[in-house]
Amino acid sequence: MSGMQKSNPGDKVKMIEEAVPCRQIPSVLVKNSGKMVANAWDWLHSRRNEVLDFYTREVYGKWLKNPDKMSCEILSEKDDALHGKARRKEIKITFYKENRQHSILMLLYIPRNAKSKVPVCLGLNFKGNHTTVAEDDCLISGRGLDGEPVEPVRGAQQERWPVEMIVERGFALATCCYHDIFPDFPVAEAWKKSVYSIFSPDKTPEELNKEYSAIGAWAWGLSRMLDALGCEESIDCRRAMVVGHSRLGKTALWAGANDCRFQVVVSNDSGHGGAALFKRCFGETIAVLNYNFPHWFVDGFNKYNDMDADLEFDQNFLLSLIAPRILCIGSATEDLWADPKGEFLAGVHASEVYRLFGVAGMPSNKHPEPDVNLTGEISYHMRSGKHNILAQDWDHYLSVAEKFTGH
Ligand code: GCU
Repeated sequence: MSGMQKSNPGDKVKMIEEAVPCRQIPSVLVKNSGKMVANAWDWLHSRRNEVLDFYTREVYGKWLKNPDKMSCEILSEKDDALHGKARRKEIKITFYKENRQHSILMLLYIPRNAKSKVPVCLGLNFKGNHTTVAEDDCLISGRGLDGEPVEPVRGAQQERWPVEMIVERGFALATCCYHDIFPDFPVAEAWKKSVYSIFSPDKTPEELNKEYSAIGAWAWGLSRMLDALGCEESIDCRRAMVVGHSRLGKTALWAGANDCRFQVVVSNDSGHGGAALFKRCFGETIAVLNYNFPHWFVDGFNKYNDMDADLEFDQNFLLSLIAPRILCIGSATEDLWADPKGEFLAGVHASEVYRLFGVAGMPSNKHPEPDVNLTGEISYHMRSGKHNILAQDWDHYLSVAEKFTGH
């Protein structure tokens, strides 16, 4: 927060391919000592920790410890949701720390006619559980700092959540509003209403932001949702896919980096601070991110403002932390702000870690045409259209999960 810039750094943003600096993307295989990673064992036991520590310290902050206790209270249960295709539950998850507590509300759909345990997709939503589906009896969640719903209209975001398709393909879906975990506002009050308040009640928001971030809280919340799903007999938590769009795509990547239970990690239009390479200087910059969203990252991330082209790391490092698990990167043709090519290239560069495990990672080095799906341990597609997550994107992500996680 202290390092926040005064003038708007957005004036310096470029979105011209010809202006992309010709700088080499650093290899994540060079250890801090200067030696190269020798093999997969060396990656897993030495270099991976260096990279994870780096992102923890400099970008997304510390991973919160487990609460003293966690409880799951089923607030509602419906056997014939989605025209009989699913069972629906609304579960209040409460975290306890000493005498303090913090709750979030999870909405869960489980395919009704599944014969065996089903895989599960987990994702946070922007505007409340009631906005993700057309059903008119879901509990309202997603409150702003004033306690009012950020979006009162039911189903307002349903195009982003093709729930019927997801359950018809045999996946359960669990979602929770990200404001429940950390209200997404760049003000001190948001920290006080976040999950951090129960862990460090005596720290000021400024102190907290030195070590923690909103993205860190959201990602941690996804892991706790997965813990809660462990109580569901019909769900196979070993086949969990974490999905996120935009800032929540950045979040999904950080969740996948920290929690290896996520077998499939989906970054949809996550852009800078997510899958996109900073060093291309195409679209959003570090200074712009820190200026507009100071709470998303730790305060120390400000020291990289205006250094995008000269960084000694890049987001291929973050993606490498998912290896050798399955990673999907989705872009959209009109989402230049998020730099589709930079998102693709980060996946290409992260593939060097996948190769240590004897798999290819991204199946091609050539950025595909719009709407062509590249399917591999790192999958990529660029949907025609705007910054969004739509059924077409989900269709590809589910196909990748089906192919690689033996659905
Ligand atoms: C802004 C921001 C992006 C972010 C996006 C979103 O556009 O600049 O970094 O991904 O919001 O989350 O919607």
